[in-house]
Amino acid sequence: MPTSARPRTSGRISRRAAACLAAVAALSWPGRAAAAATDPPPALGLSGAQVRAALAHGPWPPPRRPDPANRVSGQSRAIALGCRLFFESRLSSTGTISCASCHRPERGWTDGRERATALGAHDRNTQTLWNLAWQRWFGWDGGSDSLWSHSVRPLLAAHEMGASAAHVARVLRSVPELARAYAAAFGTVLQADDTRLLVDVGKAMAAYLETLVSPRTAFDAFRDALERGDWHAAAAYPAAARRGLAIFVGRGRCAACHVGPQFSNGEFHDIGIDFFVDGSRVDPGRHGGIRRVRSDPLNRLGGHGDAPDGTGAMHTRHVRLSHRNWGQFKVPTLRQLVETGPYMHNGSLPDLRAVVRHYSELDLERLHSDGEALLVPLGLSDSEIDDLVAFLRSLSAEAPQVTSCASSPLR
Ligand code: HEC
Ligand code: HEC
Repeated sequence: MPTSARPRTSGRISRRAAACLAAVAALSWPGRAAAAATDPPPALGLSGAQVRAALAHGPWPPPRRPDPANRVSGQSRAIALGCRLFFESRLSSTGTISCASCHRPERGWTDGRERATALGAHDRNTQTLWNLAWQRWFGWDGGSDSLWSHSVRPLLAAHEMGASAAHVARVLRSVPELARAYAAAFGTVLQADDTRLLVDVGKAMAAYLETLVSPRTAFDAFRDALERGDWHAAAAYPAAARRGLAIFVGRGRCAACHVGPQFSNGEFHDIGIDFFVDGSRVDPGRHGGIRRVRSDPLNRLGGHGDAPDGTGAMHTRHVRLSHRNWGQFKVPTLRQLVETGPYMHNGSLPDLRAVVRHYSELDLERLHSDGEALLVPLGLSDSEIDDLVAFLRSLSAEAPQVTSCASSPLR
């Protein structure tokens, strides 16, 4: 049962956690190899090791690779079609809900609610759509293994857009500007059956979503100054954020999971957030996600992808279900957090102070999965909490205003 809490007795790092830290340290993010030319001056308040740890969170943005299973990934006509479809409410069964109803551009592609609601109530918080091009699993539970298969999911979900393949195909065939945009990206709508059109809609939306790259931030300017050894420029980054960074990469151990330029290892962990829904049902988290991804006819092994030899399907082929997956959720990116509250898979933490307090006062009895010995209550002082919040805020910047496809930067 997912409810069996396991007591923990000490804050010592277990062998397993130590191995995990070593694995994280060995990850070769771009920029990890780069080291500052000289040791930082004491006035910066960071050790050489902390500076090297900071370098691993950039440069931003990293290079993008097209998805081998999506033949229109990176193609401008598909990106343009995907954008139109993203803002198109006629795709829903009632004609009233589009992807943008929940993923609102001006809120960092979220809705500001604890849990989403459209045609019905959703159990989870709306995730941001920033920086999906570098993700491997989609959904808080990783229930989809590609951006295009995940993009089809809300179209069909009764509590989201409530549509069907037949409905989506009818809209594409009957709205002339959509039929034209489809033809430009894929070829004429008349030659494709309903399922094919539905999958292509997912692929065009994925091509669009891959272009949503969050802006460079104060942290990125600081990180690049460190890399150049330009201590003068680095000193422009506020002292509170520097102290917060020292906790983040040091005793807070945050960077063990929130790693690399995206501040996420893209994997699943349990940090003790309640996974009961409305006090009665359980959200199985990654345990349910693995079952979903395996049974999804649109998964990378299912024949709707465009990679002839199954390129990119290795993780889907090898994913294994285990008891520890109960209560695990995807490690979210920490970029653009100021736009995307409330936080966590159930939206239960209203602001960044509440998040940092959660880690500071962590109740180890509430961790359900093995292997989370990385987490110990940090017992931070009020000013340390302020510093960590200042650091987290420095990972956000003003994003370009998107109100329609015309104003969306289609990179
Ligand atoms: C009812 C509001 C709602 C609508 C409408 C909606 N979404 Fe979502 N979206 C969510 C929620 C909630 C999640 C988290 C889902 C989960 O964990 O299962 C999510 C997750 C996602 C993710 C995964 C992000 C990640 O980091 O893993 C993608 C991609 C996405 N949505 C794309 C879309 C697209 C494309 C559409 C339109 C076809 C859409 N969404 C419509 C609420 C919505
Ligand atoms: C063991 C891995 C792990 C460690 C260590 C960790 N996190 Fe997290 N973090 C997660 C996971 C998983 C979630 C999502 C949990 C959920 O929704 O149930 C999360 C969520 C968050 C969120 C909310 C983001 C959002 O969009 O909802 C913030 C902010 C955050 N972590 C910051 C931190 C900070 C600061 C530290 C260090 C004090 C830290 N994390 C340490 C795994 C980790």
